Amino acid sequence: MLCRLGAARRLTGRLCALYTREGTNEHFQEIDSTMGQYQIAMLPGDGIGPEVTAEASRVLQAIGRRFHHTIELAQALVGQAAIEEEGEAISEATMTLCQHSDAVLFGAVGGAGVGNPNARVQPEHALFRLRKELALFANLRPVRPFPALLGASTLKRDVLRGVDLLVVRELTGGLYYGKPSEIREQQDGASAIDTMVYSEAEIERIVRYAFELARGRRKRVTSVDKANVLSCSRLWRRTAERVAKDFPDVELRHMLVDSCAMGLIRQPREFDVIVTENMFGDILTDEASMLAGSMGMLPSASLGLRTTQHGKFGLYEPIHGTAPDITGQGKANPLAAILSAALLLRYSLGLEAEAHCVEQAVQGVVQAGFRTPDIATSGGTTVTTRQMGDEVVRRIEK
Ligand code: IPM
Ligand code: MG
Repeated sequence: MLCRLGAARRLTGRLCALYTREGTNEHFQEIDSTMGQYQIAMLPGDGIGPEVTAEASRVLQAIGRRFHHTIELAQALVGQAAIEEEGEAISEATMTLCQHSDAVLFGAVGGAGVGNPNARVQPEHALFRLRKELALFANLRPVRPFPALLGASTLKRDVLRGVDLLVVRELTGGLYYGKPSEIREQQDGASAIDTMVYSEAEIERIVRYAFELARGRRKRVTSVDKANVLSCSRLWRRTAERVAKDFPDVELRHMLVDSCAMGLIRQPREFDVIVTENMFGDILTDEASMLAGSMGMLPSASLGLRTTQHGKFGLYEPIHGTAPDITGQGKANPLAAILSAALLLRYSLGLEAEAHCVEQAVQGVVQAGFRTPDIATSGGTTVTTRQMGDEVVRRIEK
C-alpha cells in the first residue's frame, strides 16, 4: 500500500506527489498535474500598493515553501504606473494574464496627488475594467477586529468586542457604471450627471450570494438601501423580499443606508451579513474598517460565478487606497494585503489550512504587539512595512 507523504513539488515543469511504501522507506513519485501548482497575477499598482503587495507575495511564497505548493506570481503594471509605461490603465496583455490565472492579487490604484481628475485615462479605470470584464460582482469585505487591536480603534472596546460581520458589496453595477456620466459645459454654467441603474437580475444575483453566505454564518442578512428616496432601492428591497422566500432559515431585515451608517458604530455586533449596492458598500466599508482599528487591516475578495481548477476565480485587494502621503516611507500597514492573500488561498486556491495559517500568523503578530503607525497603541513596538511582513513570514515558517 502506498501512503501519501504529502509533498507536491514542481519538477521540470511538472508536478509530482511523493509516496512511500508502507513499512519501508522506499519512495515513489507519482506525476500529478492537477495538484499544488497555482498561477497568480500580481498587480501592485500605485502609491503604497507595491509596498504592501510585496509583503503579501512574500507571505504566499512562505506558504508555498511550508506546504509544498508551487505558487507562481506573474507581475504586471496597472493604474498610473501602466498609464505612464503602456499608455492605458490596464493593457490587453495584462487583462489576458489575469484571465488565465487562478486569481489576481491587487494593490491599489489612483488616489489624490497621483492622477489628474481631468485626464483622459484615469488609473481607477483599471479596477473598473477588471471588475466588470472578469464579472466579479460580489465584493466580500469581512470585518472581525483582532482582540489585541481593540485599543487601536477610536471606538470603545465594549462596542467592538465580538464584532464579526461581512459586507457583501455589489461591484459591477450602480453609479460606478451607469451611463450617462459626464460634466456638461453649457453657456449658463456647467452641470453634471451620473446614472444609477440596476436590473432585477443584478440585484437578485448579489442578494442570493449574500443569503448563501449567511447560511454558513449566523443566518442574518441586513439589506441596505435608500428605498425612501431611490427607485433602484425600491426594486432592491422588493427583490430581496422575493429572494428571502427561498431561504426560510435566514432572517432578512431592511435598513436605510443612513441608519446603517449609524448602526455600524452604535451596535456593530448586531450585524452578520450586510448586502448592499456598489457605492453604499464602498462608503460603509471605509466606516466599518474603523471597527478593526484601521483601513490597513481590512482585506477584500471580489468573486463571481467563474470557477477554476481549484476554486472560485477572484481578485483580492486591501480596501485601502494608494495613500500618497506615506508612500515609500515604510509606514504602510501590509496586513490588509496579507489578509487578502489569505482570502485568495481560501476562495481561489481551495487551501483552507494555508489560509488559516496566514490568519493565525497575523493574529500572532498583532498579539505580540507589532504595530505600523496606523494601529499604534501604547506599549506596542512600531515597525516598518517590511518588518511587519518579516514577522508574519517568521510565524509561517515556524
Ligand atoms: C474601493 C476603492 C475603489 C472603489 C476606488 C479606488 C475606485 O475605494 O475598492 O473601495 O470606490 O471601489
Ligand atoms: Mg473604497
